[in-house]
Amino acid sequence: MTDHRPDAPPALGGPGGTRSHGFSTRAVHAGSEPDPATGAVITPVYLTSTFKQDGVGALRQGLGAGYEYSRSANPTRTALEECLAALEATADGDGTRAYAFASGLAAEDTVLRALLRPGDHVIVPDDAYGGTYRLVARVGGPWGLDFTPVHLADLDAVRAAVRPGATRLVWVETPTNPLLAIADIAALAEIAHAAGALLVVDNTFATPYLQMPLALGADLVVHSTTKYCGGHSDVIGGALVVAPGLEAPWMAGVGDVGPSVAERIGFHQNAMGAVAGPFDAWLVQRGLKTLSIRMERHCDNAERVAAALLEHPRVGRVYYPGLPDHPGHEVAARQMRRFGGMVSFRVNGGIEEALGVCKRTQVFILAESLGGVESLIEHPGRMTHASVAGSELEVPDDLIRLSVGIEDAEDLVADLAQALD
Ligand SMILES: Cc1ncc(COP(=O)(O)O)c(C=O)c1O
Repeated sequence: MTDHRPDAPPALGGPGGTRSHGFSTRAVHAGSEPDPATGAVITPVYLTSTFKQDGVGALRQGLGAGYEYSRSANPTRTALEECLAALEATADGDGTRAYAFASGLAAEDTVLRALLRPGDHVIVPDDAYGGTYRLVARVGGPWGLDFTPVHLADLDAVRAAVRPGATRLVWVETPTNPLLAIADIAALAEIAHAAGALLVVDNTFATPYLQMPLALGADLVVHSTTKYCGGHSDVIGGALVVAPGLEAPWMAGVGDVGPSVAERIGFHQNAMGAVAGPFDAWLVQRGLKTLSIRMERHCDNAERVAAALLEHPRVGRVYYPGLPDHPGHEVAARQMRRFGGMVSFRVNGGIEEALGVCKRTQVFILAESLGGVESLIEHPGRMTHASVAGSELEVPDDLIRLSVGIEDAEDLVADLAQALD
């Protein structure tokens, strides 16, 4: 099966899908050209594995041409990829390529395998999402990947960890999961580029609405679209967005593919096959259409919740980049539109108290994941970050993480108060 992804950057469809339009217009229209066959305003879910060919080795011509087999490309997935490419823009706003995957981790795995060889070195955040750490350490490690966890807010520590000629990627999460630490994307891009490495930003927590890493100098953006992009806790998905003209010169010819990062990611997406299915792609694209208004409400509510927690006598430290005393507040204010919907805090009284609070909330649902319209509460030490227990990435056991939803702020604040009291 050959890779039939179009080589040219995809054309943006729809009446408002051009780069000159604002974020919300692009979110609604980019990739959403009315269906060429029927005029359907919303891209149909193309539930087909294969496409009729005009002759042996001759793909169909005319309307909807170019499709062969849905692992290589599917029109519903193409629509989502065009929308993601339009939203994760560069400073001059053009030429990005996006790729949709079956999960955030499938997207991350594709980056590692498309751009690294055994012996290569990666810098990862010292409080990376547990699954990212597990992928790098326990899948990449035995395969021959070398990695160093670093506190990315400490730029000197990052400089010291770089190994010229071996460090290929600096992997950034900002804000981080679950401690909401902030990394300076522009400064890290400079450090990575000076060492000949690429800067990868996991933009899951911020979303392109709040933060545009490619415009700040990053090379690749990763998303778990399971979270805010999808926005309704009903789909698992991932995405990669690649800056235009990007090369990984150390990979030239490895696997018979050139150094172009877009070419390598496209090749591996098809060759490894962890693609987003048509219905999953459709759900994520539907979520993206309301991303801007959802994020505004998530931010409003998170600000209210963080302020209420700060006042509560049973709460220790509150982690929210919007608080002026957060160590990353200034950088966050520079590189983010607002501060996001995630809030973490420590409970006085240790792990038993923290577990008790997680049990007692009624509006906040005790569950892993984040970024949906409903508020969630979790205990990272026992839940999302159990895989980093005993490692340098272990999190405090009295820590609680909140994904603040879009309900009424008064109800969220009252729910936390009754659970803490
Ligand atoms: C910041 C971050 N990146 C990546 C992932 C992995 O995404 P997925 O669960 O869609 O594989 C997650 C999942 O929680 C995450 O929080």
